[in-house]
Amino acid sequence: MNKLKKKNSFLTWKIDKKILNTEDYKLNNKVAKKYSKKNFNVIVNKYTNILPKNVDSLLKVDKKVWISLKKSGADLGGGVGVVASLIAKKKIIDKIYCVEPVENAVKKCQPIIKNKILKKNKNKVISVLGTFDNIELNNSSLDFCIALDAMHHSSNLIKTLKEVKKVLKKNGKFIVIDRAHNNNTTDKEIKKKENIVYGKEFLKANFFPLNKILTRKMNGEREYRFKEWEGFFKKVGFKIEHSIIIKENHKKALKVVNDMNIKEKIVKFKIGGFDKKKIIYVLGKN
Ligand SMILES: C[S@@+](CC[C@H](N)C(=O)[O-])C[C@H]1O[C@@H](n2cnc3c(N)ncnc32)[C@H](O)[C@@H]1O
Repeated sequence: MNKLKKKNSFLTWKIDKKILNTEDYKLNNKVAKKYSKKNFNVIVNKYTNILPKNVDSLLKVDKKVWISLKKSGADLGGGVGVVASLIAKKKIIDKIYCVEPVENAVKKCQPIIKNKILKKNKNKVISVLGTFDNIELNNSSLDFCIALDAMHHSSNLIKTLKEVKKVLKKNGKFIVIDRAHNNNTTDKEIKKKENIVYGKEFLKANFFPLNKILTRKMNGEREYRFKEWEGFFKKVGFKIEHSIIIKENHKKALKVVNDMNIKEKIVKFKIGGFDKKKIIYVLGKN
C-alpha cells in the first residue's frame, strides 16, 4: 500500500532493487544530488534534455495531446518533476503522480521544481519514489499517463505497458513522447547507435573519470523502430489513436522523412536529443 511520508511529501512504492545497480540509475542519482545544491535552472538544464518553456510548447503543440491531460494522471519516469509540474498548472488537473525511482531526484530536486513552477499549488504534484513497473494505484483510476523520454528506459516494456493499462480508466489515454527510428533502419545501424561511447564532455558533466568507457546502451538507451513500438502497444492491447512527429527546424531532423506516413510538424522551439525530433503517440485502451 501507499505510504505517505508526510515530512518530505512523497509516496513510496515497492521497487525491484535491480534498478539501483543500473548505470543510468547511478548516473542520475549522482547528478541529482550534485545539482540539487544549485538552483532551479541548473537542475532543469542538467537533468532534463528540454527547457521547461520548450516542454510546455511540446505539450501544447498537438490538440489531441493537450486535451488528454485532464483531472488525474501520472508522469512516468518523471525525473526532477518538470513535466508533471507544467501539466499541473492546468486548471483542469486535480492531481498528477510523478513516478521516479531515482531517490535524489525525488527527495532533493522535485521539491525545488514543484515550488518554483507551482508555488501554492505544489501539492497537485504527488511525488512517488517508485517505478513504472509497479504502479501502486487503484485499477482504472487515472484519466491519463504520460512519459517523456522515459519509455525507452524500461527494461521490460510489456510489463510496464500492462501496469499503465491497468491503472488507466476505460477512456484514459497514455501519451508516449519518445524517439523512434524508421522501419528500414538496419540492425547494424541500431547497434552502432547503441554502442556509441560517450565523449569527455559528457563524462565531465556527469562527474565520471575521463577514461571511463560508457556506451549509450550501458546507460539504458534503447533504440526502437516505429514497428517495434507499435508491436509493443498492440501486444498489450493499446490502440494508437493518434501519432505525430515533431521536428526541430534542424538539418539532422529534416534530412530523414518517416517511412510510416506519420504526419510531421516542424516547430521553432528546441526539443533536444541527438535526433532533434520526437514521436508522440496517444494510446487508448482497446
Ligand atoms: C531521460 S529521463 C527523462 C526524465 C523526464 N521525463 C524529463 O523529460 O525530464 C528518463 C527517466 O526515466 C527514469 N526511469 C528509468 N527507469 C525507470 C522505471 N523503471 N520506472 C520509472 N522511471 C524510470 C529515469 O530515472 C529518468 O529519470
